[in-house]
Amino acid sequence: MTDTVSPSHPVSYPPSPEFAAQANATADLYAAAEKDSLAFWAEQADRLHWETPYQEVLDWSDAPVAKWFVGGTLNVAYNCVDRHVADGRGDQVAIHWEGEPGDSRDITYSELLADVSRAANAFTALGLVAGDRVAIYMPMIPEAIVSMLACARLGLTHGVIFAGFSSAAVRQRVDDAGARLVITTDGQWRRGKPAPLKAAVDEAVDGAESVEHVLVVNRTGSDVDWVEGRDLWWHDTVTPASPEHTAEAFDSEHPLFILYTSGTTGKPKGILHTSGGYLTQASYTHYNVFDLKRDTDVYWCTADIGWITGHSYIVYGPLSNGATQVVYEGTPNSPDEHRHWNIVEKYGVTIYYTAPTLVRTFMKWGRQIPDAHDLSTIRLLGSVGEPINPEAWRWYREVIGGNSAPIVDTWWQTETGAIMISPLPGVTATKPGSAQTPLPGIAARVVDETKPVELGESGFLVIEKPWPSMLRGIWGDMDRYRDTYWSHFAEQGWYFAGDGARLDEDGDLWVLGRVDDVMNVSGHRISTSEVESALVGHPAVAEAAVVGASDETTGQGIVAFVILREGVENTGEALIKELKAQVATDISPIARPRDLKIVPELPKTRSGKIMRRLLRDVAEGRDLGDTSSLVDPKVFEAIRGS
Ligand code: WTA
Repeated sequence: MTDTVSPSHPVSYPPSPEFAAQANATADLYAAAEKDSLAFWAEQADRLHWETPYQEVLDWSDAPVAKWFVGGTLNVAYNCVDRHVADGRGDQVAIHWEGEPGDSRDITYSELLADVSRAANAFTALGLVAGDRVAIYMPMIPEAIVSMLACARLGLTHGVIFAGFSSAAVRQRVDDAGARLVITTDGQWRRGKPAPLKAAVDEAVDGAESVEHVLVVNRTGSDVDWVEGRDLWWHDTVTPASPEHTAEAFDSEHPLFILYTSGTTGKPKGILHTSGGYLTQASYTHYNVFDLKRDTDVYWCTADIGWITGHSYIVYGPLSNGATQVVYEGTPNSPDEHRHWNIVEKYGVTIYYTAPTLVRTFMKWGRQIPDAHDLSTIRLLGSVGEPINPEAWRWYREVIGGNSAPIVDTWWQTETGAIMISPLPGVTATKPGSAQTPLPGIAARVVDETKPVELGESGFLVIEKPWPSMLRGIWGDMDRYRDTYWSHFAEQGWYFAGDGARLDEDGDLWVLGRVDDVMNVSGHRISTSEVESALVGHPAVAEAAVVGASDETTGQGIVAFVILREGVENTGEALIKELKAQVATDISPIARPRDLKIVPELPKTRSGKIMRRLLRDVAEGRDLGDTSSLVDPKVFEAIRGS
């Protein structure tokens, strides 16, 4: 164990007897899954409503493309909405929605059903049929969730694009998916001001062949350009549609959504998820990891629907379990740093799920802010997106969790679809910084090149057996799917997650971070090559190398090294600013480099590979390690001096 636990801190935190006594998940789940994992997953699938029962739990004959719950049919939206209304829970609030400017709406399951039905009828009237793709580029408003569910209801495959992405990124995704419909808003609220959003869609879909319609929700009342025949207002199209709609069942393997994520090359990967297995695991994990009590809990996941966490733990997991949840549109410091805690108090939030980067931001703002609020309703805390450092973990537990709420540190990925490694809150004695153990039913291991490592050793994180919510491929590029995830351990048939991990002496797992060229900035995945290609796209740049340097608040910060083209004048700060802006425009403001250095040369090996390790050393201000394989070690003096 290398964790620096000071003597005054316990090494681990067992759940209180009271929590353990009422927990949904007990230790016998592990035993049941161990005994017969397929029977275990079948039991989890049976928590859902199937129209046609499945005949086989898993068909792995076409590996690495799994089929789960073979032959079964279901409707995902029915499971998330209609089912609860049919169970007499129509008046229960599904969503306490809180707008950034202070407006709010409570939406019951009956109202959600009416809204989803209206949208489904409107989408059908536009000519959309099962299998078509729909791009959703929206802020965190109820219509975004309604749109996702209406797609699911009709068997349309949605592709949500984070509303912080640039028009170029939207275009790339819309083209790759071949979306027929794009749903957006006129604008979005950001720190008290409306920012345009449809304008980016106008730019993005100009000339995009697949797009027939752009459906626009009026959110900010901003002026928009309008293309007659293509553009439609939500209030003219969806609102007047009939609130009655009968859901049709689809095959368990029907594509539910595509979500783009960064890979190690410049082009983002469209991760494909299907219906029955995805919903089974999203629902199972949400129920057991968050210990959801649908009658009493008020659950809040602070993610954005533009990311997988929003898909699985705002939309499909919680709604399939009939949860009451908070959905908040804005930033945590609008109008001030008290916003999250005001919301917790207003709705009596009991379960709060966020990212370590935000916990560290709260720490920076100071504990007097949360201390000014009654957070006593909180009984469970979650963390996701990056390793949580022990200091932040302890602060989170003490200041937000009243020294008693268990913390579930959940490891998973866009590709895994749902949580894979996490404590069970009523069972596990949690250690600050460790994601602990694979969930019941999940075969995650830490391995070296050929076999599991011993206790106390580090290695690669792999998944040995298929799991229900696993990705079914990369949209339009199955070779890349096999190559990215299945070629590293081809012989063993293990899924390669791209993360490094360590097993401690107790067999608990510590995720160490990516072992590839993917950076993790505030929990967002950004590939170094994506940022490099944005930089090289600028006429002044000849070559660029990008590394993730450790950053106290954001986990990693992006540091770029750039060589200018011959004859380009180095205008210093002005050019640096312009190059950083280029990345923000090309990808998203979240990809804007924290530091950018204009350098005369880049350190390369004799075979011409850029030595990122050395650049990282420079970026983090460390002494240089071994430079013996460099072509010309003097390059470094030049880089350091610039
Ligand atoms: C990292 C987010 C440590 C990891 C759900 C993974 C984590 C990548 C954790 C996936 C965690 C996620 N501890 N690292 N609890 N959760 N990661 O696809 O590097 O946006 O591979 O999915 O985030 O990011 P993605």
